[in-house]
Amino acid sequence: MTRAHLTIDPSFVVGRVDRRVFGSFVEHLGRCVYDGIYEPGHPRADEDGFRADVIELVRELGVTTVRYPGGNFVSGYRWEDGVGPREQRPRRLDLAWHSTETNEVGLDEFARWMDKVGGELMYAVNLGTRGVQDALDVLEYANLRSGTALSDQRVGNGTTEPHGIRMWCLGNEMDGPWQLGHGTAEDYAQLAGKTARAMRQIDPDLELVVCGSSSAQMPTFGTWERVVLNETYDDVDYISCHAYYEPKDGDYGSFLASAVNMDRFIESVIATADHVKAVRGSSKTMNISFDEWNVWYQSRFNEVDKITDAEHWPVAPRLLEDVYTVVDAVVLGNLLISLVRHADRVTAASLAQLVNVIAPIMTEPGGQAWRQTTFFPFAVTSALARGVSLELKLDSPTYDTAAYGEVPLVDAVATHDAESARSAVFLVNRSLTDEITVDIDAGLLAAASIDSARSLYDDDMHAANTLAEPERVGLRDNTSARLVDGTVTITLPPVSWTALELS
Ligand code: AHR
Repeated sequence: MTRAHLTIDPSFVVGRVDRRVFGSFVEHLGRCVYDGIYEPGHPRADEDGFRADVIELVRELGVTTVRYPGGNFVSGYRWEDGVGPREQRPRRLDLAWHSTETNEVGLDEFARWMDKVGGELMYAVNLGTRGVQDALDVLEYANLRSGTALSDQRVGNGTTEPHGIRMWCLGNEMDGPWQLGHGTAEDYAQLAGKTARAMRQIDPDLELVVCGSSSAQMPTFGTWERVVLNETYDDVDYISCHAYYEPKDGDYGSFLASAVNMDRFIESVIATADHVKAVRGSSKTMNISFDEWNVWYQSRFNEVDKITDAEHWPVAPRLLEDVYTVVDAVVLGNLLISLVRHADRVTAASLAQLVNVIAPIMTEPGGQAWRQTTFFPFAVTSALARGVSLELKLDSPTYDTAAYGEVPLVDAVATHDAESARSAVFLVNRSLTDEITVDIDAGLLAAASIDSARSLYDDDMHAANTLAEPERVGLRDNTSARLVDGTVTITLPPVSWTALELS
């Protein structure tokens, strides 16, 4: 029998798990907004046209912050198109996704939806086709109570209370040649620095996110971060990371080890940020907002290129509607393990995206909403990962991967909340063939009981939830879990994700 060994000591603290790590992302892309969160004609639509069944699922998912309105979309977006009387709002070309944007939903409606789901709105400004003035304008419109042209406009539009948005992204993926307004790191650094300093004139306490790299595979990765941070270090609070994973050429061994790439990505950005900190002699530490991450079958993604005739770009077409399998969910659970493991520096993150577009929640127009496989590890980690993240001692058998060399078969992270005396352990078994029994030395946690042990796995790792079979895959109780004299023993099925709750 294959065995692994894990030691947990509550005094080995990495950092407090910021609730913002369980954020997500809503972009005006495909059916994320229209026919996703907003569908006025749906039987479950509320008085504002939002789907109540989707709101219930978002709440169940445990999403804390939501980044909005893009993504690539934001780099061509005019925020003022989306406010004021709906019948006067213009239809616009969305160059990022070759779609027609109707602007039925904009900042005020989205903020209202955020109140319904109970989360914090994180807003991205357009630094692609726009710049400092527009960022100042949307900030004034959103956050000033009244007494200025734009704040009074919001009040006149029916939103009396300011939105109070704390976190602002200074553009999106400006390192990517696909991005409207993409330029050099120096160009972007100048613009982001000017925008940040101007926004802070209005409110010095804003939390600002500067664009890092769109992936660790970008040719400018590392240099981009150094140049951008060197210019903006004193003016921003976070640098962003984005990463998407998919199996390449059927290599599921490497795919299951995607979190190794995420670990290295995070640690490289920390090293670069700390280098800039040292060179500048700064006492400030830069945190990471990992504000786009997920499994995304980008190699299948060619729908946008097929939409050519700009006079007939569709409204809310079906784009990026990946159907997630069990193996995808195991990888996603492992990516969350990586984020929580770096709790001292990754203090915000956004699963991209939330509804219909590479999403944990799917909807059918006029029909039902359902949970994809990836819903489960996210919901459970958000619910159980409380308090601090702990540094673990993990001895695991290893396997060879084409992408990352020799990597552990088991990966894990643990959290501990001293106040409630509750702990959680999240584990994955990356083996395609073998179950693995893990002995967890948890004596120092003084845990008296296993409150729950749930795993996500299936005989068919390609099983998925679909419109036809929305509950095909779900969590299962892992009945192998035992606690004897401070040692938890649990058996992890091949290709599985597991959460253990101890108290
Ligand atoms: O999430 C989908 C897209 O991926 C976003 O619009 C963009 O920022 C990234 O490239």
